Amino acid sequence: MRTLTKRLFNSSRATTVTARSESETAAPRKDTEASLEAQIESELSEPDRETGRLEGDEPVARDTVTPRPSATANKHAQAHESGTQHVTGRARYIDDLPAPHGTLHAMVGLSQIAHGRVTRLDLDAVREMPGVVDVIAAQHIPGHRDIGPVFPGDPMFADETVSYVGQPLFAVAATSYAEARRAVRAAVVEIEPLPPRFDPVAAAEAGEFVRPTHVQVSGDWQQALTDAPHVLEAEQFVGGQEHFYLEGQACLVVPSEDEGVTVYTSNQHPSETQKLVAEVLDIPFHAVTVENRRMGGGFGGKETQAAPWACMAALLARRTGRAIRLRLPRADDTRATGKRHPFHNRYRLGFDSDGVIVGGDITLIGDCGHSPDLSEAVVDRAMFHADNAYSLGAARVTGHRARTHTASNTAFRGFGGPQGMMIVERAMDDIARHVGQDPLTVRKRNLYREGRDTTHYGQHVDQHPLMVEIIERLERSSDYWQRRDTIREFNRKSSVIKRGLTLTPVKFGISFTAKHLNQAGALLHVYTDGSVMINHGGTEMGQGLHTKVCQVVARELGIDFDSVRISATRTDKVPNTSPTAASSGADLNGMAARDAATQIRQRLLDFAAEHYQFDREGLHLENGKLVTDTGASTAVVSWGELIQAAYLGRVSLSATGFYSTPLIHYDRDSGQGRPFYYFAYGASVSEVSVDTLSGEYRVERVDILHDVGDSLNPAIDLGQVEGGFIQGMGWLTSEELKWNDDGRLLTDGPATYKIPTFGDLPPIFNVELLEGHPNSQASIYRSKAVGEPPFMLGISVWSALRDALASLTDYRVSPPLDTPATPERVLMAAEALRSQKPSAQKPEAENSNTGATP
Ligand code: MTE
Ligand code: HPA
Ligand code: MOS
Repeated sequence: MRTLTKRLFNSSRATTVTARSESETAAPRKDTEASLEAQIESELSEPDRETGRLEGDEPVARDTVTPRPSATANKHAQAHESGTQHVTGRARYIDDLPAPHGTLHAMVGLSQIAHGRVTRLDLDAVREMPGVVDVIAAQHIPGHRDIGPVFPGDPMFADETVSYVGQPLFAVAATSYAEARRAVRAAVVEIEPLPPRFDPVAAAEAGEFVRPTHVQVSGDWQQALTDAPHVLEAEQFVGGQEHFYLEGQACLVVPSEDEGVTVYTSNQHPSETQKLVAEVLDIPFHAVTVENRRMGGGFGGKETQAAPWACMAALLARRTGRAIRLRLPRADDTRATGKRHPFHNRYRLGFDSDGVIVGGDITLIGDCGHSPDLSEAVVDRAMFHADNAYSLGAARVTGHRARTHTASNTAFRGFGGPQGMMIVERAMDDIARHVGQDPLTVRKRNLYREGRDTTHYGQHVDQHPLMVEIIERLERSSDYWQRRDTIREFNRKSSVIKRGLTLTPVKFGISFTAKHLNQAGALLHVYTDGSVMINHGGTEMGQGLHTKVCQVVARELGIDFDSVRISATRTDKVPNTSPTAASSGADLNGMAARDAATQIRQRLLDFAAEHYQFDREGLHLENGKLVTDTGASTAVVSWGELIQAAYLGRVSLSATGFYSTPLIHYDRDSGQGRPFYYFAYGASVSEVSVDTLSGEYRVERVDILHDVGDSLNPAIDLGQVEGGFIQGMGWLTSEELKWNDDGRLLTDGPATYKIPTFGDLPPIFNVELLEGHPNSQASIYRSKAVGEPPFMLGISVWSALRDALASLTDYRVSPPLDTPATPERVLMAAEALRSQKPSAQKPEAENSNTGATP
């Protein structure tokens, strides 16, 4: 597996030059290039050739808990279905699609004021600008003007009031991109400013919410706090994050011959965009087709926030009768679209002298921006993860959704989960310092275990022993305790450079918390040459979903991977789909595809039994053949022949599949239920070195062990774990969002917003998938979702920075460290600790039971 990752990586480096020169010259393919491609192709698929085909798998009953032995990992290490296109630069993203003759370019006029009343929006001058063909604003919308995805609150164009800098006011279509850009600047916009609000805590105190507050209570948390031998409280600010997808928001809309449109969009949720475009145009859903082949990254930023641009382009397309391309400039993209929610979190927790939590109170305030968007579910997920992997005992968890005058914050890998976990990980370190124990010891003591295995929202945690196993294995493989001693010793002698080491666990709930979204459909065709086309509701954003779904179909039909292809996700092939989100893409769509493939298999076997007069019982499909099970598997008919015969025998070679996740439910009134089908687990150990005179630091070594059940594809899963960790680390360290006092985002591009680069990779980076532990639930081949959970492994880097800082006080004080923990913040924390100012530390009052609830 490691070899494969390396190969992929080397290939991509080797081909960069070719890919660029090709796109620059648009020259026809040359022989050298073709042979390079062939070479890449063979390298990419080599592991699969080495190890042979996927083994078959019996359908498993839902919800059996008997673990099966894990499949040998590298059996399924199929390369990404678009690997060759990715590395040769041939993969098409939205802006690469050939556009019809006469296509116009759209640009959007954005508010420069955070909060105000629009007194004048004069677009006459815009209309007069060179190349301009059409200009639209709110009054030109024939249908719905509010395109809020779940709740109202997102006008397609602001009308009377504006509520953030970057809010769309109007759009223009012109004959070139440059003309459209220039035209937008000719608008005369007068806005009477109203007082803006940027502080979510003040907003929460004033009762300014985008959605009502939700509370989960388990047991008598007040009594627990009263009785607890120790009580600590602290506040933690957790910063937001810009998605920084490489492909920005983009779409191409082509008007159709009827009243409709075809929308090509970089989009995680084609069905929702179909709905919104239809509602804006006031036409039936069947008049709108939405297509996506792949995205250059989504990360949650295209779950809801890809739709507005498609709606605008669709309206321009209908009005002008011409195709419309809309691609936001990066600075507009970062201003106009929402980010990860920043959170202000607070805990007040009671614990015993071993540091074991007995109960308490956790409050989360999510900064939602100006509208609800997905914030109801995001803050819910933060609440569901305020325990991370630990039993909170008798606890109350409260989640507020504060309204501020910024872009509407949205889905981002982890979907609130990371922000929720941060408060309890903060508490673990604080409690450990308080009782004078190593933080790992305290973390281990607080893990879910027998007798402490139910979450604060009432879900039983069945696989809790996995968490213990992962931590114990990682303790050994990372040599945690030995390194702990070495680091303490080093820190005693080194006055400026301090090292830190932390192990943090992750337990992440898998399922959409909105129950109805946990469904998926698929459409499978077998053509008469035996090649197979599978479509499903999920979208590809680099995470390898299409590869996994093709693997599922190949495995069910006993044919090789290359015989199965996915064209694109289209709303006219599979309808009413859920967003590709909540890490559930493979779980849901893999199952739907499997359902379709199973039907085709049954049909073929039934047909074969009759047609060839075989015993139906022993028939199966394997290695591209129809096989009779006569003890010594005799290959009798090839897949191609079988399909020909079935076609001539008038057997339908097309099927739809469907899946809905069983057993999940959540009652928002009582705050109790089983919202998640299962949990995914993982843990990471990070070591950092901090220069305490400058605040600069380095991540020296990272060890990760992550649970993906029986992996569907270990090569892809490893990539997800590595990428997720790095993205999580970036969130907590270098990625800082800064607004000026007027609410204008200053960090609007790569020059000012720092995502991790190549040089930020830990020099020692050991990543392993946990083997031998299939999912306890009947997920697709007992695998586990992998897209989001590894993101939260990045928390160990932040905690290791705190560990390094704590050494300045001989580990007596647990330093506050808001995120992102930039060198500036680290330096300020170090200076505060050095001067031993009491303000460096929230008072850690012993429980005097004064009852001062925060
Ligand atoms: N990986 C890549 N390369 N690009 C992405 O945009 N998005 C992440 C994760 N991994 C993302 C990614 C997010 S936010 C989610 S929810 C999952 O992929 C979605 O895909 P899945 O459900 O198929 O895992
Ligand atoms: N996760 C991600 N996206 C979502 C969810 C969720 O739980 N609910 C709605 N969209
Ligand atoms: Mo992922 S945040 O659920 O798109």
